[in-house]
Amino acid sequence: MYSLWERLQQPFMAERGVVSVFAIPEGAHVLDLCCGDGYYTHMFHSGRASHVIAVDFDSSAIAFARQYHSAPNITYTVCDVRAGIPDGSFDTVIWNGAIEHFTEQEMSAILTSIRRRLKPGGMVAGYTVAAYETGELQLSHHEYEFPSAAALAAFLSKYFEHVRVFESVWPAKPSLGGVKRHNLYFYAGAGILPFDAEWPFQAIASRGC
Ligand SMILES: C[S@@+](CC[C@H](N)C(=O)[O-])C[C@H]1O[C@@H](n2cnc3c(N)ncnc32)[C@H](O)[C@@H]1O
Repeated sequence: MYSLWERLQQPFMAERGVVSVFAIPEGAHVLDLCCGDGYYTHMFHSGRASHVIAVDFDSSAIAFARQYHSAPNITYTVCDVRAGIPDGSFDTVIWNGAIEHFTEQEMSAILTSIRRRLKPGGMVAGYTVAAYETGELQLSHHEYEFPSAAALAAFLSKYFEHVRVFESVWPAKPSLGGVKRHNLYFYAGAGILPFDAEWPFQAIASRGC
């Protein structure tokens, strides 16, 4: 992370960790779908959660996560989320860098399952990359990239009463090997979401802490 950050002078790789942490109340039960090597699970999500179940279908990623990103409150499991997501009841489901790997039909099934796993007031938080304005995918191996924040919000609204989507756009720095990065972040659930007027963090901020 720091090597890329220093080279590009763009902090987009830290954004999803921070955005996700805002969705994790202290002591939360968290489900981290498509966790990859466990870096964000460990460095961001596990610090606020009482327990994190983190899953990925790549057994080598899970082996790496167990070796380099283990913590007493993280359980790493190999799981193909197209076949079903883990049972349980969660305050927060994180789905970072991954919704783009699924077809619309698969996304629908997974979002329906996530909704069933959320405790009252719980939410899903995630991040994806938007397609380029030309319609071209940012990464060719992706199944689907939403064209805009509005399109992602409309899709999520089919499954959740309350949706917030926002974006960050980082210009390309070709001389540094960078490409334009258009990131979409989302929160969705039935209750209060980060940055709502009633959001507890905001209440703390307005008290001047
Ligand atoms: C770009 S990585 C994101 C990793 C991590 N969440 C992050 O934010 O850095 C996408 C991950 O999705 C996982 N993945 C893709 N399809 C999956 C599936 N059907 N079930 C579980 N994991 C899957 C891949 O193995 C990969 O680790």
